[in-house]
Amino acid sequence: MQNEYLKSLALRDVIRVEMVCLGNICRSPMAAAVLHNKTLELSNPRFVVTSSGTSGWHDGEGAHHLSEKTWKVAGYTFEHTSRKFQLNFFDEADLILPMDLTNRANILNGARNDADKAKVFMLRSFDPTLSHINPTSPEAEQLQVPDPWGETIEAYQEVLEMIERATDGLVEALTS
Ligand code: 4NP
Repeated sequence: MQNEYLKSLALRDVIRVEMVCLGNICRSPMAAAVLHNKTLELSNPRFVVTSSGTSGWHDGEGAHHLSEKTWKVAGYTFEHTSRKFQLNFFDEADLILPMDLTNRANILNGARNDADKAKVFMLRSFDPTLSHINPTSPEAEQLQVPDPWGETIEAYQEVLEMIERATDGLVEALTS
């Protein structure tokens, strides 16, 4: 996926990425863990990866044990404390990447201007096999990372695979 804003980001020294889900204990911490590890060695641009949840229900908690187990088994190391998405994150992040369409709608609801809106992309829009899907179209459901909360470890493993494909595409889009 490419647009003018993404092209301009690729020229920066630092790209700050905010992953966002509902609880900030399952999906977005895993997405942050994966992108952080995939970009650790990069310096041009350097990536700073954080995450948050639209709800704030789990503020101060660590990641869900199945989420953390899934990323650790896959070889990623990452520390996480849950926090609520705040409107000033539009100033502190260059990219704001919701996991599902409800997260996206809630984030865009707080956008103050077009510059804020331009920072918001579905994470899975960076998966090359999904990048043609318009996030406002009926097909946009395919862009969602499904909520694994309350599900078995297999659901978390599927989430990890989706996140790995999307973050590979993200790194490719911003570094080549
Ligand atoms: P997440 O999953 O948004 O991927 O962190 C959830 C975690 C907790 C809840 C919902 C979703 N909850 O209802 O507490």
